[in-house]
Amino acid sequence: MMLSVLKYAVPKRSISTAAFPYPRVHVPVMLHQVVTHLKPKNGGIYCDMTFGEGGYTKALLDSCDDCKVVAVDQDPTAYAKALQLAELKPYKDRLFPLLAKFGSIHEQIESEFNWNIPCFDGIVMDIGVSSGQIETADRGFSYKLDGPLDMRMFSRGRNTTTEYENEAHLMKKSISAYEIVNFFSREQIADIIYQYGGDRLSRKIAAAIVTARQLGPIETTSSLAAVIQKACPQPRWQRGNDDMVRNSAARTFQALRIYINNELVELEKALSASEYLLKPEGRLAVVTFHSLEDRIAKNFMYHCAGKRLMEEAEHNQFNLKRAASREYRKAMKQGLTDVSHKQTVERPDRVTPSFEICTKHVIQPTEEEIEENPRSRSAKLRVAKRTSAQPLEPFGGLP
Ligand SMILES: C[S@@+](CC[C@H](N)C(=O)[O-])C[C@H]1O[C@@H](n2cnc3c(N)ncnc32)[C@H](O)[C@@H]1O
Repeated sequence: MMLSVLKYAVPKRSISTAAFPYPRVHVPVMLHQVVTHLKPKNGGIYCDMTFGEGGYTKALLDSCDDCKVVAVDQDPTAYAKALQLAELKPYKDRLFPLLAKFGSIHEQIESEFNWNIPCFDGIVMDIGVSSGQIETADRGFSYKLDGPLDMRMFSRGRNTTTEYENEAHLMKKSISAYEIVNFFSREQIADIIYQYGGDRLSRKIAAAIVTARQLGPIETTSSLAAVIQKACPQPRWQRGNDDMVRNSAARTFQALRIYINNELVELEKALSASEYLLKPEGRLAVVTFHSLEDRIAKNFMYHCAGKRLMEEAEHNQFNLKRAASREYRKAMKQGLTDVSHKQTVERPDRVTPSFEICTKHVIQPTEEEIEENPRSRSAKLRVAKRTSAQPLEPFGGLP
């Protein structure tokens, strides 16, 4: 049976005790569902892998008097906010900010804390960019705001200096959108736009970029957006629509961002590490906004729960494919027409699942939340609970 979408409603409750010590623009998505599923408890240690502006971190800290949170973010401005929050009296010695990529979380925890691993009772990931990042023109994430072509989440801007030790390390050998747009080949640019933005017009856009840069470097987000919009104009009746489905500039910017920040590989590494870092009964909550990310989270959880997606099995598991066909034929004989090849099957090899899936159906924001916060509309939440079994080493194990 295909997974259907459950519109999940959890009653709102007030969980904040202290005000944020900095201005915020990011509205945390499905906050109540995330906290409810993580089930924070006194004495528990949690990891917010994507601190952002601290929405989840603060809710976790406020939900019980005596839990701790390790707050990770690769963005130095988010890290500075986490440091500020950690100074507040209710969070003293309870909040531990880390400036790092979550793909290297295992090494970071080992080097920064003298804790036995597994150490976490819950891990939360809210994948993507924060509203603060998008709305800061100097970061270069938005095609609607004029700024330098940067898009590195760990950068304060193309020409700014670094402040923290880890920051310089993250910036080393990094490339920004400027380098891609001005120095990558037409084929490379087209591949990025197609692979991460899913745009069928990727070749046309790449050709337009290469032609435009012959007149001089493309320096800003506005110039890049203008080149794309000229090559692939939106029909008049769709102008002003920033929907990913209809807007090539939105898709190209998203694709560049995912490529520059290596977002899919980072997610795979962090999920893989969560198997090692979560204690038995510890919960993993993953919020995604992009189908490629959701697919990775879903495949990881299914894999660790001893199930595999049939569509994956069709590609690389001959035995599973045969089993699937048998099941399919059997179902057809019984007159069941609603049989999907996305159906899941139990894995034939006898692995003890390292996770148990808690959200049978993917959770999406309520209509009320989407109305209040339109950016939440594509969000999906999946939750799984760690068992006491050994890690299965998905995705080739720890890097
Ligand atoms: C959607 S925001 C999180 C918002 C947060 N939940 C809140 O309520 O404020 C995502 C954050 O994850 C961070 N991030 C994205 N990829 C990362 C990575 N690989 N390592 C560390 N942080 C990352 C971004 O810098 C951004 O601040």
